Amino acid sequence: MLVVLIAASIAIPVFAQQAHFEHLDNSAPYGFEWPIKEVAVIGAGVSGLLSYRALSDKHHFDRIRIFERDENPGGNWHYSDEHAATVPIASGLGCDWWKADYTANIPSQIPFHKVYKAGSNESLRDEFEKNRINHRQPKPLWQSLRANTPAPQQQVPGFSWPFGVEWASHHSKVQRYLRSFASWLGINNGDQSTDVSYNTRVELVSKRLDNKGRQTGWTLVLRKYVQTYQGVYVEQYWEEASATGISLDINTFAKTSYLSVREHSNDPRAPIRREAHLSSVAGNTTMIGEIKAFHPIPKHGNMSTGEIELLNGTIIFGTGFRYAFPFLPQYHNSSVSGNEPADSEEQPIVTDGSHVRSLYLDTFYIDQPTLAFQGQNVGIQTFIYGKYAGEAIARVWSGKAHLPSAQAQWRHFWKTVEERGGLKKGFQWLDNELNSRSLNYFVAWLNAAAIENGEKLLELPPDVTDVMDVWMKARAAGVSVNPDGRNDLQEIDHVQHQWRAAIRDDW
Ligand SMILES: *[C@@H]1O[C@H](CO)[C@@H](O)[C@H](O)[C@H]1NC(C)=O
Ligand SMILES: *[C@@H]1O[C@H](CO)[C@@H](O)[C@H](O)[C@H]1NC(C)=O
Ligand SMILES: *[C@@H]1O[C@H](CO)[C@@H](O)[C@H](O)[C@H]1NC(C)=O
Ligand SMILES: *[C@@H]1O[C@H](CO)[C@@H](O)[C@H](O)[C@H]1NC(C)=O
Ligand SMILES: *[C@@H]1O[C@H](CO)[C@@H](O)[C@H](O)[C@H]1NC(C)=O
Repeated sequence: MLVVLIAASIAIPVFAQQAHFEHLDNSAPYGFEWPIKEVAVIGAGVSGLLSYRALSDKHHFDRIRIFERDENPGGNWHYSDEHAATVPIASGLGCDWWKADYTANIPSQIPFHKVYKAGSNESLRDEFEKNRINHRQPKPLWQSLRANTPAPQQQVPGFSWPFGVEWASHHSKVQRYLRSFASWLGINNGDQSTDVSYNTRVELVSKRLDNKGRQTGWTLVLRKYVQTYQGVYVEQYWEEASATGISLDINTFAKTSYLSVREHSNDPRAPIRREAHLSSVAGNTTMIGEIKAFHPIPKHGNMSTGEIELLNGTIIFGTGFRYAFPFLPQYHNSSVSGNEPADSEEQPIVTDGSHVRSLYLDTFYIDQPTLAFQGQNVGIQTFIYGKYAGEAIARVWSGKAHLPSAQAQWRHFWKTVEERGGLKKGFQWLDNELNSRSLNYFVAWLNAAAIENGEKLLELPPDVTDVMDVWMKARAAGVSVNPDGRNDLQEIDHVQHQWRAAIRDDW
């Protein structure tokens, strides 16, 4: 079985610009070792749904299966009041940073089957409930959260938001929008589709070898919770939340609010400068430095003396992207650091959790491009970008487009490392220009291949520059981005002019 590994992300808004097209060396295309007919997609978030759409459109694959550990599609856009059980991340440096919100717990014998018959036994019911929550893990949303990127940008190409949607939609609307997209694709949880398995977590992905030891595909160990079959656990990867957004939202009812900001985090590639973000933080927020380590809360701590005082308090961690794929332990190597290749036959994908490496175009694992990753980048227009990355995966795997040779992919990768200032946190961060350049690159490459192979031509990504321009300026100036009656998608041009004028006046 072949695998697309999918990770959804909450997009940081960027705007598209024209950028130059980089020449692709196509002289010796990469040759796959076996015909790709079956695809497993891990995760039914926006990236998973977009890659499913691209893959199923091709009428090439015998089988496409999505595995989603939650009971619904939509990935991170699923709010619930549930609390996560403790996560297996310890404090400080030097521990296993690649760990995510669960660790694999694979029984020695597979298939494994465990039947819970709780009846009136409350402690068994509690255990069942705890396992159910652990299996899917609550998502990093909070009750009052609104989208931090405007609806016209956070929109699946070819599947529009309904008329009249607010630009800064409440998360429940984004969730309903994604569920309706899943319904449109026929893979929502009520659709009885055999292409998708909900409540199903991928515990382990390993190579399937033939009797001569050659790889012929991949094997997945799955754990389904509601109705156990092939037993076993593990997790997916990260935690993300917009820290400035949180402090805005909680300040109306929080007694004290601290915002931890890393020094030197003012990356010039950011689509919006740090000062602009920080200007929207409520004035009664106290800025503190980077958190060095997490400790248990002392009984009588005092924040002003460097100890923590939390009486009935809550700490919210918005610690940014952390990359971990616990179901791919063979591609973790936490002893690799810096910008060097690892001293191993196959290169690691995850090292210290700050980035993913060894991917061509941030997508295809170069040592075995039957593994692909979608939605790893930060700073991209996730809903739009996913269409093109999904098309690239679907077209390459169905033979309608080709990757360059492994050597050329590695050359490209190391060039990228150099251009982006090394393998570190932010490596996958695309600024406006890089976002736009990548999208144009996908379009030019895939269309050139389509002309040869008779595929459909892809249109250019929608230009949301003006929308983003207005949005960013409005946010930076503290202008409400959700004025009623002025936010219909159908009236963007008109709205923009009004907003522009309004913002100029404010300034
Ligand atoms: C209830 O379930 C727990 C296991 O979670 C078990 O130890 C206990 O014996 C059960 N109680 C009864 C009355 O069956
Ligand atoms: C903090 O500031 C926000 C917005 O400026 C305000 O609504 C809130 O009441 C303030 N909270 C406290 C505790 O003063
Ligand atoms: C915390 O410590 C400071 C300095 O010692 C003191 O002034 C303050 O009253 C303490 N706060 C609490 C809540 O104990
Ligand atoms: C903490 O919450 C409990 C229950 O709501 C309340 O009885 C207690 O007084 C609170 N303690 C403080 C210090 O606010
Ligand atoms: C991990 O990387 C180190 C440093 O390059 C290397 O010596 C080691 O063999 C690697 N481990 C595995 C399991 O590949």
